Amino acid sequence: MEQKEKEPAEQLPIKSLLVLFSYHHKNTEKIAKVLSKVLDAQIKTPQETRIEELQNYDLIGFGAGIDSGKHYQALLDLADKLPQAAGRKAFIFSSPVRS
Ligand SMILES: Cc1cc2nc3c(=O)[nH]c(=O)nc-3n(C[C@H](O)[C@H](O)[C@H](O)COP(=O)(O)O)c2cc1C
Repeated sequence: MEQKEKEPAEQLPIKSLLVLFSYHHKNTEKIAKVLSKVLDAQIKTPQETRIEELQNYDLIGFGAGIDSGKHYQALLDLADKLPQAAGRKAFIFSSPVRS
C-alpha cells in the first residue's frame, strides 16, 4: 500500500534554538519572537549560549541586527567559535533597513 506523507504535526518534534542579539530597536527580536512561536524554539543570547549545547538542537537560527553591513559583533564572535559541522541544519536572520 502506498505510504501517505505525514502531516507536519505527525512528524517527530524538531528541537530548535534561536541565538539572538538585538538591541537597537529590538527589530530582530520581533522577528525572533514570531519564529520562536512557529518553531516552538527557545531564544538565547550569544552570551547565554554554550557551544557544547548546540549539538542538542536539530535546527539553529542565528539572528542579529546589521551594523556596517555585518551582523552584530556579538553574534559573529559566537560564529567564530563554532566547530566545523556537516549535515546540520541552521539559518541566519536579520532586520536590515538599508541595502
Ligand atoms: C550604527 C548602525 C549601523 C547600521 N548599519 C546598517 C547597515 O550597514 N545595513 C543595514 O541594513 N542596516 C544598518 N543599520 C540598521 C540596523 O541594522 C537596523 O535598525 C536593525 O533593525 C537593528 O536591529 P535591532 O533592533 O534588532 O538591534 C545600522 C544601524 C546602526 C545604529
